[in-house]
Amino acid sequence: MNRKVSVIGAGNVGATAARSIADKELADVVILDIPQMQGVAQGKGLDMLEACPVEGSDARVLGTSDYADTAGSDIVVITAGLARKPGMSRDDLLTKNCAIVSSVTAQVMEHSPDCIIMPVTNPLDAMAQVVYRKSGLPRERVIGMAGVLDSARMRAFIAQELDVSVENTHAFVLGGHGDTMVPLPRYSTVAGVPITELLDKETVDAIVHRTAHGGAEIVKLLGTGSAYYAPGSAVVEMVESVLKDKKKILPCSVFLNGEYGVHGLFVGVPCKLGANGLEQIIQIDLTAEENAALKKSAAAVQELVQVIDMD
Ligand code: NAI
Ligand code: 2OP
Repeated sequence: MNRKVSVIGAGNVGATAARSIADKELADVVILDIPQMQGVAQGKGLDMLEACPVEGSDARVLGTSDYADTAGSDIVVITAGLARKPGMSRDDLLTKNCAIVSSVTAQVMEHSPDCIIMPVTNPLDAMAQVVYRKSGLPRERVIGMAGVLDSARMRAFIAQELDVSVENTHAFVLGGHGDTMVPLPRYSTVAGVPITELLDKETVDAIVHRTAHGGAEIVKLLGTGSAYYAPGSAVVEMVESVLKDKKKILPCSVFLNGEYGVHGLFVGVPCKLGANGLEQIIQIDLTAEENAALKKSAAAVQELVQVIDMD
């Protein structure tokens, strides 16, 4: 294939995303982990390659711990780092994952200086800021994954509640990927009809609350580690929109230069993703209440960014 996606971190999210990229024949895939996990990365890569004949995919998959194998990647997905354990907030991960993501970014840039990087590691918005500052890439080429996952969760809950196809649902979630995220019921629809016209306020509020705590719900159930099927799918939707230049409008964490009144910070907003990466930030009107919630969420991201000195 003439496209290449490297996934850094061969753990749960990385392997799930890599497998789906290969199955869908979107690109050749390199999956990389630390030298101590070289066998695991190689084993998972080989296993995925061996699944390709069954899936009808000619994607080449390679597991490795050598960054030279990632050279010339079109997109690099960064899932390297620690995942949340029960009782641990996303923000607890801050310092350790900052060091990991910094070092990963430097090595990625050595071999793929023109790539698009999609950070996934938590706390997501702060880690996207780390990638942006360390890589020196233009903001169009650093696109954090979180909003697609959060809105997928909201869509699943809406479809369950109304007993309709998920394909008829659309959900809007803005803000940082944390407890302060801002699900927007007014802009969340079923076949174009806002859910505020289809469900009573109590039910809408319950969906909003469950969405904002969707990650913690899975962490509690799994008992060890965090979600990976939905996160993996969310990454692949973003990768596909870029590689196929689909220009999908997806909620992503991107560096804001005044959009939504936020300056110099990665926060989730609706973005058009195409061959050039971030092609447009879609601005929608917010009520005073929604705007205040978004500002609060951005302030939570800013606090983390200050701790790691990545302003
Ligand atoms: P995992 O523990 O299954 O996998 C992480 C992998 O990263 C491990 O295999 C580990 O060896 C590897 N790793 C650690 N340091 C590395 C380095 N320096 N270079 C390369 N690889 C390295 O964790 P999982 O479940 O895959 O989650 C990964 C990250 O993604 C976590 O930070 C998690 O919180 C985050 N996450 C973010 C989501 C989002 O919406 N943004 C959704 C789900 C997970
Ligand atoms: C999630 O939302 C852990 O951020 C991850 O599932």
